[in-house]
Amino acid sequence: MNQKIVVCGAGTMGRSIAQLAAQNGYSVVLYDLQANAVQTAQLMIGEDLERLVAKGKLNGQEKDQITSRITYTTNTADCTGDLIIEAVVEILEVKVELFQCLQKHNPPSTILASNTSSISIASIANELEHPERVAGLHFFNPATIMKLVEVVKTEHTSPQVTDYLMNFARSLQKTPVLCRDAPGFIVNHAARPYYLESLYLHKKGVPLEMIDELLEQSGFKMGPFRLLDLIGNDINYAVSDIVYQQLGKPNRLQPSLIQKAMVEKGHLGRKTGKGFYDYK
Ligand SMILES: NC(=O)c1ccc[n+]([C@@H]2O[C@H](COP(=O)([O-])OP(=O)(O)OC[C@H]3O[C@@H](n4cnc5c(N)ncnc54)[C@H](O)[C@@H]3O)[C@@H](O)[C@H]2O)c1
Repeated sequence: MNQKIVVCGAGTMGRSIAQLAAQNGYSVVLYDLQANAVQTAQLMIGEDLERLVAKGKLNGQEKDQITSRITYTTNTADCTGDLIIEAVVEILEVKVELFQCLQKHNPPSTILASNTSSISIASIANELEHPERVAGLHFFNPATIMKLVEVVKTEHTSPQVTDYLMNFARSLQKTPVLCRDAPGFIVNHAARPYYLESLYLHKKGVPLEMIDELLEQSGFKMGPFRLLDLIGNDINYAVSDIVYQQLGKPNRLQPSLIQKAMVEKGHLGRKTGKGFYDYK
């Protein structure tokens, strides 16, 4: 496979998307502006591949080939490819600034995809040259495991670009779904009450461990608080806030002050070692 993929942001999602693409034969550049994020990503991808070897899902040679397909960088000049997948913080201005920089290093044929959970793809595309090559490519956490990918098109996105992304997702063994550029797309719109009502119940005094336990026993794969810690409270709070604003601030979707306080204290979840639970 001679297509080159660039993944920007080496955090929870970026490193998982980079690993997934490399496991499926793509050459990948993984970029982050923080050197320690790049080092941590390299370490965590290495550990995950080791686990797959231990489980018999990969052999040593396959692990080495996958490892050799990923290069790591903190330099935007290295970010050239056929497809750029942006997975940096959930802030519109940061995403726009990054793409504006990368469009200078890449030809108009390079597809610009955002893994945003909630930011309007049109609001990114409107700030860029060639908005027809901009789309959403929304993976779920962890991208190596979760099957669903939302491919998000704006009124400008060309059919060639959506076709490319649908096929790209299939080539990663995923199930892509084409969505409109609407608040929270489909999954993050429908999922808001799961988090927000659970946070509300907790505020009313129900222990979070009990809420997790009961919802898992009732059939949900992960209780809301364990899931919030996996996602990251900063990301989840930002998504709730953006969807709330985009929908005209309905009372039922008001973001949680408990979660806001957690973000302010840096209790982001697994990635900081502390969230609703402790991970150290
Ligand atoms: N966490 C989830 O469960 C999840 C699921 C689906 C989609 N997303 C989306 O993926 C994106 C990333 O989320 P995450 O959870 O991986 O975040 P994260 O906080 O784990 O990682 C973000 C990374 O982006 C880097 N970064 C920030 N600004 C940058 C810039 N200008 N250039 C390069 N790197 C930069 C940070 O150093 C950090 O390493 C967000 O848009 C989020 O909405 C998250």
